[in-house]
Amino acid sequence: MGFARLPAGIVFLDDPSGLRAEQLEGFWVGWPEPPTPAVHLRHLRGSDVAIVALDPASGRVVGFVTAITDGVLAAFVPTLEVLPAWQGQGIGTELVRRLLARLADLYSIDLVCDEDLMPFYERHGLWRLPAAAGSREPAAIRAANAAEP
Ligand SMILES: CC(C)(COP(=O)(O)OP(=O)(O)OC[C@H]1O[C@@H](n2cnc3c(N)ncnc32)[C@H](O)[C@@H]1OP(=O)(O)O)[C@@H](O)C(=O)NCCC(=O)NCCS
Repeated sequence: MGFARLPAGIVFLDDPSGLRAEQLEGFWVGWPEPPTPAVHLRHLRGSDVAIVALDPASGRVVGFVTAITDGVLAAFVPTLEVLPAWQGQGIGTELVRRLLARLADLYSIDLVCDEDLMPFYERHGLWRLPAAAGSREPAAIRAANAAEP
């Protein structure tokens, strides 16, 4: 799934502890209140699972996916993004493949996505759930951004 077209040299890391915020520029495309790179780094480090795709040539992270999990029953996948210039080359597919492999022993894996991405996730064996409920509070991102040095 996706292996053949992955860009040459891309490295996948499942430990974000060595990353620096400067490597995380360019994400959160279209978000009205985008997290700063420093907050993005905290998000990666605070997630139970964080997998990043790294372009060694530039040192930049070009894609990432995260999961929050209890490690025994359930996981939620809050974020997945590939930088626009790197999309369509199999990186998102490989991030999800690696994430689902890490979560394979769990009962439930949930995520919320736009309708047009359903086929992408269905290709990974996920299926449509009856409904989703949640909240979004941009002020929380503003506060996190402001709290970072
Ligand atoms: C979704 C995303 C992570 C996919 O990453 P990617 O590296 O481009 O993924 P791949 O190259 O492995 O595969 C892309 C496939 O998903 C499909 N796809 C990606 N975005 C899509 C969209 N908005 N609508 C419909 N299909 C989409 C592509 O058509 C492609 O299908 P193909 O393999 O048949 O050509 C990337 O498009 C992205 O970052 N989007 C913006 C953020 C986002 O929507 N994140 C998901 C939140 S739930």
